[in-house]
Amino acid sequence: MKVFVPPIKCQGIKTKLIPWIHELVSLSSETLWIEPFMGSGVVGFNMRPKRAIFADTNPHIIAFYNAVKTREITPGLARGFLEHHGAVLAQRGDEYYYEVRKRFNQSHNPLDFLFLSRSGFNGVMRFNRKGAYNVPFGHKPERFAKAYITKIVNQIDYVAKACEHYEWTFICQDFRVSCSEGTEDAMIYCDPPYSGRHTDYFDSWSETDEHDLFVTLLSTPASFLLSTWERTEWRTNTALQKYAEHFTVLTRKHFYHVGANEDNRKSVIEALVGNNLQVPQTSLYQPSEQLHLLEMR
Ligand SMILES: C[S@@+](CC[C@H](N)C(=O)[O-])C[C@H]1O[C@@H](n2cnc3c(N)ncnc32)[C@H](O)[C@@H]1O
Repeated sequence: MKVFVPPIKCQGIKTKLIPWIHELVSLSSETLWIEPFMGSGVVGFNMRPKRAIFADTNPHIIAFYNAVKTREITPGLARGFLEHHGAVLAQRGDEYYYEVRKRFNQSHNPLDFLFLSRSGFNGVMRFNRKGAYNVPFGHKPERFAKAYITKIVNQIDYVAKACEHYEWTFICQDFRVSCSEGTEDAMIYCDPPYSGRHTDYFDSWSETDEHDLFVTLLSTPASFLLSTWERTEWRTNTALQKYAEHFTVLTRKHFYHVGANEDNRKSVIEALVGNNLQVPQTSLYQPSEQLHLLEMR
């Protein structure tokens, strides 16, 4: 399947899981899609629900998509902005990137956010303890070549058109509020931050959050799908055990590269947890011995 890639980048983006999620979830025209941790929005944007609530506690993501929805940002405006500021970046390099970053941290202009997201280091989105964007320059002054700008403009156009056709809401709120809107007709897709990994000002995740999410999913009348992981080469996700006791858990191995070295291939076992999944018994998750040992300690 052709996967749509969104204009704003973030770590932990679930682009690779889209075909798998697509296989497992079917939406009717009545289904309300609730995505409490939208991040880049890649999952919902590819599911194309007719009705959706895209939420996140990061206000900059939400402000950007609300600006696209209200046409404060149009594909044409974005093109003009990136052409102009991309040309200045090509001339002044990292000094200009840091000027835009400083400006964004004062005025929070969604177009500056787009510029930073597409020229910052490795497409990550990070904020310091005071909530200021602190991603370093990606070291590519020629970043905004014509073809690259066209690609970004088309990505914005995709979301703008979807907002015209569908009832999509973008809202800055905590997952507890978003999940409480889930009735029997809703499908909640959860992709919370992984505790201990990638955490920053807008992306922190405590044991209380973990517990509250579990309790919320236990009692929701909605269908849900939760993205998580079972194992990396170094760690096992012990929290998965409690989900396995109540819900269906599916796992898949996923390979990724660390740094630029092709030989440095690592694997993670991704997991999807759901309450209303129709899947063959054989593909169900079997907790590993390691997991049992950890539980017994
Ligand atoms: C792993 S990312 C989601 C990635 C997304 N599924 C994607 O593919 O791009 C987790 C997101 O949860 C958001 N978040 C963190 N704590 C939250 C909370 N308490 N309520 C709602 N969103 C939260 C973060 O800002 C971050 O965007």
